[in-house]
Amino acid sequence: MPNYSLENTNLESLVSLAKRRGFIFQSSEIYGGLSSTWDYGPIGVELKRNIKEQWWKSFVTNRQDIVGIDASILMHPSVWEASGHLSSFSDPLVECKICKKRFREDLIDGNNCPECDGDLGESRQFNLMFKTFMGPLENDSAVVYLRPETAQAMFVNFDNVQTTSRKKIPFGIAQIGKSFRNEITPGNFTYRTREFEQMEMEFFCKPGTDEEWHKYWIEYSYNWFHSYGIRKEKLRIREHSKDELPHYSKGSSDIEFKFPWGWGELETISNRTDYDLKAHSNKSGKDLTYFDQSLNERYFPFVVEPAMGADRSSLAFLSDSYDEEGEGKDKRTVLRFHPDIAPVTVAVLPLSRNEKLIPMAKKIYESLLGKYNVEYDDSQSIGRRYRRQDEIGTPLCVTIDFETIEKDNSVTIRNRDSMEQKRININQLIQGIDDHIKSIINTFI
Ligand code: GAP
Repeated sequence: MPNYSLENTNLESLVSLAKRRGFIFQSSEIYGGLSSTWDYGPIGVELKRNIKEQWWKSFVTNRQDIVGIDASILMHPSVWEASGHLSSFSDPLVECKICKKRFREDLIDGNNCPECDGDLGESRQFNLMFKTFMGPLENDSAVVYLRPETAQAMFVNFDNVQTTSRKKIPFGIAQIGKSFRNEITPGNFTYRTREFEQMEMEFFCKPGTDEEWHKYWIEYSYNWFHSYGIRKEKLRIREHSKDELPHYSKGSSDIEFKFPWGWGELETISNRTDYDLKAHSNKSGKDLTYFDQSLNERYFPFVVEPAMGADRSSLAFLSDSYDEEGEGKDKRTVLRFHPDIAPVTVAVLPLSRNEKLIPMAKKIYESLLGKYNVEYDDSQSIGRRYRRQDEIGTPLCVTIDFETIEKDNSVTIRNRDSMEQKRININQLIQGIDDHIKSIINTFI
């Protein structure tokens, strides 16, 4: 792993960098913003897409035993009755008798209002699902919900997916998509928001093998974060106590990350037993058992679920990669992203805006487009442009100078982490870039 400070990154520095460099903006900013909603800018969207892409590879396309789906956000309201979300997906809400502010009871210390110290009223359960109406009538029969988790689509499509993919147990169904929760106290930047993206996989297995699979997916998930660069000192596994288990779970463990404000959940891996398939079978009348040919019997498969957040993961990768080094005018901020996660892989920079350099630099830039996520920049001094690329975590910069044109047909490749510069002939540029990327990836092993 790259060697840099494990000190907790300051949240304000992260938020400010995120805005300054186009990672994350406040939503609807020109209207004063909408609380706890965020928009990913040109650099942030690449980071989040890379994270989702690597997750999809590791949890779907690189495996023989998992397939994907992409389901609707709006589902039949009976789904949420059967799943237990209508009755149980709630948090304890308390209201201050003085300032009238509302809080999640389990997230506050003490018995008084965290804002004004006033007395708090009785706690009541507040359902977190967003409600809306389908069609022109706003009555009870038109009520639908924005899904609070992507998981249910995997359960209600179990039979469709199993019969069309002809997968045999054990196998998984995965999905990446938006979920919505009317959180009482969102906050900590993108950590807890009301609209967020999840990466979830439901792994269907034979009853009795579930505990072994549960262990397997906890380890697999932990290693996934680590293999893309999150340092072990900032990751830990925490088993849920019985009284904090979600209503569907027989056992859950969180992968936690040390965020700037302390440890927080990145992912939950739950043993959902046969709770969901049975509940949907009972409610819909559709048989959702699986016929196991090897045993010549039908049963409800058990389900182990690794459930990650794409926004929380993006925040964790951003936070863990953040480093400041050097002093005075040599001081730089650098995001030490794993190259597979980095929003931009290669930046092409002419040494100056000299008219001899620009056509060659653009030609090189165009030759790399489509092969890498590549950016061209000729705006300010070369030093400032290196700093900008360091701040968005670009692993390599390719610089075109006068020697390139007048002397040796070579360019400079600069390594983000070591800041070492090596010259390489343009004819071997792709090979050179690939070798440099590999050498940076090797520092993560
Ligand atoms: N299907 C199970 C499920 O949804 P969860 O632990 O409630 O489990 C899974 O959510 C992951 O989704 C969390 O670990 C977190 O990364 C993300 N997540 C949940 N609520 C979130 C919120 N309000 N804002 C951002 N991410 C959230």
